[in-house]
Amino acid sequence: MEALKQAIKDTRARYKKASPQSMAADKFAAKHMPGGNTRSVLHFDPYPLTMVEGRGAEVVDLDGNHYVDFVGEYSAGLFGHSDETIKTAIHEALEVGTGMGAPTSYERTLAALLCKRFASLEKVRFCNSGTEANLMAIATALVYTGRKKILVFNGSYHGGVINFPNGGSVLNVPYDFVLADYNDVEGTTALIRQLGDELAAVLVEPILGAGGNIPASYAFLKMLRRETRKADALLIFDEVKTARIGAAGMQGLRRITPDLMSLGKFVGGGLPTGVFGGRTRLMKHYNPKLPGSWNHAGTFNNNVCSMAAGSVGLGKIYTQERAAAFFDWSEAFRLSLNDIFAARDIPMYANGMGSIIAIHFSKEVTKVPSDITAGCQSLRPLLHMEMLLEGILICKRGDLFLSLPMTDDHLSKVRLAFEKFIDRHGSLIKQVLAG
Ligand SMILES: Cc1ncc(COP(=O)(O)O)c(C=O)c1O
Repeated sequence: MEALKQAIKDTRARYKKASPQSMAADKFAAKHMPGGNTRSVLHFDPYPLTMVEGRGAEVVDLDGNHYVDFVGEYSAGLFGHSDETIKTAIHEALEVGTGMGAPTSYERTLAALLCKRFASLEKVRFCNSGTEANLMAIATALVYTGRKKILVFNGSYHGGVINFPNGGSVLNVPYDFVLADYNDVEGTTALIRQLGDELAAVLVEPILGAGGNIPASYAFLKMLRRETRKADALLIFDEVKTARIGAAGMQGLRRITPDLMSLGKFVGGGLPTGVFGGRTRLMKHYNPKLPGSWNHAGTFNNNVCSMAAGSVGLGKIYTQERAAAFFDWSEAFRLSLNDIFAARDIPMYANGMGSIIAIHFSKEVTKVPSDITAGCQSLRPLLHMEMLLEGILICKRGDLFLSLPMTDDHLSKVRLAFEKFIDRHGSLIKQVLAG
């Protein structure tokens, strides 16, 4: 639509005017990295901002513009940019020494905290990213069951090589993935039954993240638990993002315990890590004291900085009490956005749960990625640019992640920015969605 194209063009012109140094930095970066980029999700048109400083819940770009950071490192930035307890833990770990080529007390502390917190975790192992954690969870399921098929969901993202945006990605690992539709209880039940003894595992995010922060219904997760048991297949929860929800992740909130789970992001206190773990009957195969055990290597699996930061992150800062309170505070904010959209009679909706939010241009709640219309997609760059120009950093696809150092003032600032966005573009949004 011409009016929308023009509106996006205008915001991009304002953006360029406000960030000339980021534009120059992007041009320089393109000399040495394809398109200046090393992490696809961070690219957007006309170019991404180059950040130079982060404090608490705020960041500053190369041109000196300040932002409230709702990108929150795609949920890994739970602790914000300068938490003193985390900084102290990292400094202490650095003083002791890195790369010791031996076990240290740090990973043992973090492992104990994780097992105490998440119902499915009896034993864990560390790796370096959420992608790796999911690769290891899948490998565990394949070897343990001796089966080949892994059921995943359209629109899910489990890592750079386990990604199903429109069915799949050319970069995916060549496993035998079978695709089902998220929240489709009947269709998925039929598929699991049809796969029967070929099915090794179902891998599912309890909130479909990249697909629009769509929460799984209780009935859907319950069905997955029941049907995987019947099929003697494993249920794997990818809680790389959702582990921050409530006192014990989505499995705690829904009271559904998977056989295996993967974690990452905030669990390293803002530094790289990944975790996979679950029932002892599965994880015992990694016990090197047993003959014939499975060999899982990784030079930086127990890197002391991540283990130290993660330990204080989970043990001292994001305690279960704090996590439960943070969920309530964040959920109230999400609902307040929906109150604004309803009061203004604008077809927008804040999907998600608690501190994991995605803005959809629709009056109806999005339950599957296929509910996301072309009109909704076409409006996202406009929202993104306008929010950046208001000093609110959100993801290009409309996600917002809250972080612990945020205050009520930060939330008020976003609410105001949404009001302004609706004042400016409300009738255009309605026109676009009317088709
Ligand atoms: C649900 C989910 N699983 C896995 C991953 C991959 O984690 P990482 O980027 O640490 O490899 C992500 C990353 O965004 C994610 O959101």
